[in-house]
Amino acid sequence: MAKLRVTTVQSRVLLVVLVLFGAVSAPGQDRATPNPQLASKEINSRVETLLKQMTLEEKIGQTVQYSAGFATGPSASKLTYDELVAKGQVGSMLNVVGAEKTNHYQHIAMEKSRLHIPILFGLDVIHGHRTTFPVPLAIAASWDPGAAETVARVAAEESRADGIAWVFSPMVDIARDPRWGRIIESDGEDPYLSSALARAWVKGYQQGDLSKPDSVAACVKHFAAYGAVIAGRDYNTADMSELTLRQVYLKPYYAAVDAGAATVMTSFNSINGVPATANPFTLTQVLRKEWHFDGFVVSDWGAVAELKNHAIGDGPTVARKALEAGTDMDMEGDLYGTVIAAQVRAGKIPESVVDEAVRRILRVKFALGLFDHPYTEAGPAYAATEQKREIARKVADETMVLLKNDPVEGVGALLPLTAKAKTVALIGPMADDALDLLGAWTVAGNKKDVITLKSALQQRLGDGLLYAPGCGLLSGEDESVLNSVTFTGPEASVNQTLPDDSKTIAEAVETARKADVAILALGEPTNWMEGEAASRVHLGFTGNQEKLLEAVVATGKPVVLVVVAGRPLELTWAAEHVPAILEAWSPGIEAGPAVEDVLFGDVNPSGKLPSSFPRSVGQEPLYYAQSPTGRPAHGDLSHLPRNAAEKFVSRYMDEQNSALFPFGWGLSYTRFTYGTPTVDRAQVPVREIVDDHRPVVTVSVDVRNTGSVAGTEVVQMYIRDTEASMEQPVRELKGFTRVTLAPGETKHATFPLGFDELNFYNLDMKKTVEPTTYDIWVGGSSLATAETKLKIVE
Ligand code: NOJ
Repeated sequence: MAKLRVTTVQSRVLLVVLVLFGAVSAPGQDRATPNPQLASKEINSRVETLLKQMTLEEKIGQTVQYSAGFATGPSASKLTYDELVAKGQVGSMLNVVGAEKTNHYQHIAMEKSRLHIPILFGLDVIHGHRTTFPVPLAIAASWDPGAAETVARVAAEESRADGIAWVFSPMVDIARDPRWGRIIESDGEDPYLSSALARAWVKGYQQGDLSKPDSVAACVKHFAAYGAVIAGRDYNTADMSELTLRQVYLKPYYAAVDAGAATVMTSFNSINGVPATANPFTLTQVLRKEWHFDGFVVSDWGAVAELKNHAIGDGPTVARKALEAGTDMDMEGDLYGTVIAAQVRAGKIPESVVDEAVRRILRVKFALGLFDHPYTEAGPAYAATEQKREIARKVADETMVLLKNDPVEGVGALLPLTAKAKTVALIGPMADDALDLLGAWTVAGNKKDVITLKSALQQRLGDGLLYAPGCGLLSGEDESVLNSVTFTGPEASVNQTLPDDSKTIAEAVETARKADVAILALGEPTNWMEGEAASRVHLGFTGNQEKLLEAVVATGKPVVLVVVAGRPLELTWAAEHVPAILEAWSPGIEAGPAVEDVLFGDVNPSGKLPSSFPRSVGQEPLYYAQSPTGRPAHGDLSHLPRNAAEKFVSRYMDEQNSALFPFGWGLSYTRFTYGTPTVDRAQVPVREIVDDHRPVVTVSVDVRNTGSVAGTEVVQMYIRDTEASMEQPVRELKGFTRVTLAPGETKHATFPLGFDELNFYNLDMKKTVEPTTYDIWVGGSSLATAETKLKIVE
């Protein structure tokens, strides 16, 4: 990291001179607002009192976490937990679900252990706990932080009722490569959008008060840069400049910490040669010294022990390195509990290092009120209430992204479907697949709660609905492999194996022929193909689904494609041949009703892509906020270069550079027209732009609904710094807002711009704003063209 720095005494002196004379703004550094509860005197004095009474073994016990239920990583240890808990040698457990089970261990900890320190139970509560909402990438497509907050609120309440006071969420890794299966758990490619959502998730889980009986501690993961694993292969290494790390990847973690997140989880990857779980730069320099984070850091599953595979030492060495770097708790690694004490006794690790880790962990336990209220009352059996279903449906409605809606001859725009579509053929393996509609990562969710597309449409259309599964999600052989696997979650994948896809495809074609319109529900199987350890090099539909799609399109019937997937798939053929495409992600328990709402126009779609959809996997990593090149390619790149000017530019020979569907993209059943954006001050002296979160300029634009139905538009603002001392991306999102407009209505959208939005990192790794001109665009996607400018002067 330090290599990048070109700081010299002279450059510092020059900087001071420039600031004094107003030539640049005073440089800033991210410093989070500390969580007031973790910083509170009362809690810290209780921690100190307890710490004084603890033996070395009891202290180390607090840094140990075991999975005492199912495994969410390579095989879990088979220890006798009752005994370890009674001896005070386990501070936290994961994957123990339900009041009865959590209370069992809690009673042992509170009644049998010498110091009665409660266990902190953690769990992967990713998109809801019992009530399962759309997957996180889908929630990001709503561009509605309020939706994320609501989901987190409901999840917190349900988790706490199950004895779980700590959720391993939000995952805010910037994900710019859909080959990486964990993109499904992310907020997509953009640091600004992801930061806004990160704050909302934390707020929803913690409610600004960890001691509330229905609050849980959030765990921001995976620190850091896990989304940048090379080639999208999970657990691979990440390698990037400190500049990119700070300017892109660290942003959302910072936002979550600034929102008060009580805990952070390390990532499996290394960053520029140093494994994240033993990385003093990220864990101590950035997280503690710069951001002033007061909570604790847990490793990811087995990541402390896996440091041995990174070849940076034997067991005792890697445990020491991880602890000293700032990993306070060892998740299922079985190393802290076994090799730290001897090293402390031998003088190799100062006991103060252990003390500090224990302090951080105890602080969170005290703040959660666990010492005073360690147990949970076993509640009534969970049932998805009408009220929760309504919330789940509303959130899912907002996540739907209408990718394409071309007119069809004799029909007009195919969507929303009208009464003219009397007979509808619902085809495809996702149509009635409760488990995949539920989404990738739910421990306590239940596929029985899911209303599938088939049942929702049956309810609406009665005999007007024809149904044919068409084919399996995978081809027969692949499916039987998956069906034989037992995985961690509630159950293994997937649809029953359909014995003969060619027969069922032929049946589906016949079904389509009998209908006025065909809805094809296709996608990617959730279990084992999405989420952790689920990288792919092909991003098409799995199994024979593409064949099914092509066969149904060949009937000439109008086709609506509904995509159920947790990552951007390659939809190139479909985009050319299918008139209407709806990205439905994995919508959760209200999947069917939400898709129905949009297909029939009860809800006007408003989702926008949080992630670019590629034309070809070879374009990955593909994202809109690219850095500039000296040889940009302009115009149509769909043919071979015809001359040197078209050849010697940054392009592919065999594909366009642009996304098939870009970041921010999403259509509506109405039209929105943008006026020319304006700034309330065309010029601002640089000395006025200080790092105090205050805006100095307001960008405004009129947005008008020029269609015939009401709709919600996500108005997006992008900027480009055109004369910075470091090159800046060709455009970057710096503001967005959801605006609902009646037909004919106009609203004025405004966006503040100040240091927070305008800064970038200079060569000294300090946030700065310099005299320059910013291009500013406002519109309904990252292709926005309505433009204004802002000048920053000396
Ligand atoms: C591994 C995953 O990377 C992480 O996201 C998860 O929270 C832990 N396992 C616990 O299940």
